[in-house]
Formats: sequence, structure tokens, C-alpha cells
Amino acid sequence: MARNKLVVGNWKMNLNQAGARELAVALAQKLPSMLSADAATGKARVQAAACPAFVHLTTVAEALKGTPITWGGQNVYHQADGAFTGEISTSMLKDLGCRFVILGHSERRLVLGESDGEVCRKLQAVLAAGLAPIVCVGETLEQREKGETWQVIQSQLEGSLANLTLVQAPQLVLAYEPVWAIGTGKNATPAQAQEVHADLRKWLASRYNQGLADSVQILYGGSVKPDNARELMAQADIDGALVGGASLKAESFAAIVAAAGA
Ligand code: PGA
Repeated sequence: MARNKLVVGNWKMNLNQAGARELAVALAQKLPSMLSADAATGKARVQAAACPAFVHLTTVAEALKGTPITWGGQNVYHQADGAFTGEISTSMLKDLGCRFVILGHSERRLVLGESDGEVCRKLQAVLAAGLAPIVCVGETLEQREKGETWQVIQSQLEGSLANLTLVQAPQLVLAYEPVWAIGTGKNATPAQAQEVHADLRKWLASRYNQGLADSVQILYGGSVKPDNARELMAQADIDGALVGGASLKAESFAAIVAAAGA
């Protein structure tokens, strides 16, 4: 089944306001021609999104408004607006025109101590707000070396997607991000990534059904660069990329988006 490709820039905790504006303006110039609609279906074959730090969302939204590029948050809180000092709600993200929210990134899980239970609550809040969740899973190097890769990922899926219903599941985007490949310059080989992506799809098929499994976009993340993007995204079950470092330069992000359409 042919799925659209999705390339998402995770800007992480980077850039000041001027830098965020400059990057978004450059994306607005470079990307739209690569995101043209497929003549047969009228649907974009390649989609692209930028996820800046919360404080830059307004700036980025201004620059990307009216372009086919969408934007999103890197995190969110599961409660509705109220007394939650320091947190950001789904309605705030929605108000700024966000389409996506990244959930359960390994930096949140491992550095900030976010649990599967929290990811699960956030997922429900994101879906209730009509936003699209990008739920990240992935193993550490130690877990991979011990042969626990799938066990770890399965447990993250079971916890994070615990109450995701069949009706909600079509909104889901998954991202496989091996922790050892993030920011290290050491990407998973296309074969290593494809193996996990195929297992993720099998899990979706057994949990839901084959039709659903065939339609969910599964992104790969971890040192995706212009020179490895094409081969990674050519794999049968890799439907795009979640890009950290290489999303901070318009040229390299544009080259990855181009690779998604190649
Ligand atoms: P990286 O980050 O591309 O810099 O490895 C990916 C991510 O953490 O989403």
C-alpha cells in the first residue's frame, strides 16, 4: 500500500526568535514545490512539518501560514487549561494552528523521566483536541546489545497506546527512534530500521487490523541526513523521517524532503 511520506523537523531546544524566523522563512521558500499534490489523488505525496520550541510557535506559524508546510509542538500537557504552572495545553497549540504534537520523545522519556502512562494521557488529550500525535518509541544501545529491542518497544507501545481505540488509531503517526542513533551521527542501517518498522506494523495489525496497520505512517528518526535519507525512506515500511540536527538548516532539511519525494 502506498502511503504518503511525512518529514518532520524536531528543532528541540534550539534557536532564538530571529533564528527561528529565518529558518521558517527559508523553509517557506524552499519546500512548497516539493510538496505538490499528486495529480491522481489530489493528496500531497510528501508532507513536511516543523516543530520548534513552544516560544517560537507564533513566529513559525506566521512564516508558514498559507504554505503547505504544517507545524507542531514537541510536547504538551494532558490537562485542559488551568492551574498547571509551566505547562502548555492542547487548546493553546491548536490556537496557534498546530497540526502535530510529538509525544514520548526519548529525550523526554530518559532526561525528563516521562513515563508510558504520561504519554498515554497526553495522547488522549491530543486526539480529543483534533491534533495529530507523533508517538516516539525506541531502544537504547544497551537494550539493543542485550537483544531486548522488540521487548522494549512492545512495552512502550502497550503503555503509550494503552487506550487508543480503533476509531482513534487512524490519527496516529508512529516514530521509531533508536536512542543510540539520536544526535550521534550513527543512523540505524536501512535494514535495521526496516526490521523494526515491519514489526511495528505487525503489532498494529494484531492489535487493530491489517487495514489500519497498512495506513499508519511510521517515521524513522536518528541521525537522518541528506546522504542517508533516501535509502532509509526507500524501505517498504519507512514512511518518512523525524529529523533533529539536520532540520536546523533549511538546506539540509529541504534535501531530506526532496529525498522523501524521490
Ligand atoms: P537527530 O535527532 O536527527 O539529531 O539524531 C532526531 C530526533 O531526536 O528526533
